[in-house]
Amino acid sequence: MKWNSELYDAKHSFVAKYGEGIATLLNVQNSENILDLGCGTGDLTHKIAQQGAIITGVDASPEMIMQAQKKYPEIHFEVADASTLSTLNQYDAIFSNAVLHWTFNHLKIFKNCYSALKDNGRFIAEFGAYHNIKMVSDAIEQAIVNLGYTYRADYFPWNFRQDKDIKADLIHAGFKDVTVESFDRPTALEGEDGLVNWLVMFSDNLLKDYTYEQKHNVYQECSRLLQDELYEAGQWIVDYRRVRIFAYK
Ligand code: BEZ
Repeated sequence: MKWNSELYDAKHSFVAKYGEGIATLLNVQNSENILDLGCGTGDLTHKIAQQGAIITGVDASPEMIMQAQKKYPEIHFEVADASTLSTLNQYDAIFSNAVLHWTFNHLKIFKNCYSALKDNGRFIAEFGAYHNIKMVSDAIEQAIVNLGYTYRADYFPWNFRQDKDIKADLIHAGFKDVTVESFDRPTALEGEDGLVNWLVMFSDNLLKDYTYEQKHNVYQECSRLLQDELYEAGQWIVDYRRVRIFAYK
């Protein structure tokens, strides 16, 4: 997937804002070596650095890393993919926010994280849980059908798994003291165009076969379908669900 890092920063700063909770739970100690896995444009990486960590931010998207490095030249960023990470015994903690639901090989990633941590190191992450944005993804499918286009289930780009399956993979990867907890986190999007901006940014894979005009039709139909349930007092509130993991080497 190709990311538009400027659109991400301009319209989706809420991703890092909502991630501040899990960054606080990381409970950084001074001079700890930390890896921010899937750092995007670096806002949380920067926050964690300010708490005294020696942090490296990695992301699979060169566009995101370029933007992160431009914003925070003092932080070390690298283009790297979580599923091919090969670092050994280097980090006191690995942190990840709003990324792992874009990946379909959790066991491999968890094994890589386990290897990259020092003994007793911690892996603290938050991402989309089972049934995350269910109303939105159902509405996209319904909008496509209503418009007479073809819905491609195999283009669904997200991996929203049950807590028990995530926990099993973490244990299989070698982690101990594993906690996996999911919860509803209704998420406010900015402004009247919030839902359309969200769809423009995040639904491109599902709509990749469509023309510009067809995509626009899907955005409008989807907004119509969701209006009664998700739009209130000039604001879209989307049905996000989060899962948090805490696991130790
Ligand atoms: C999420 O952070 O949960 C998310 C963001 C964009 C698309 C799907 C899920």
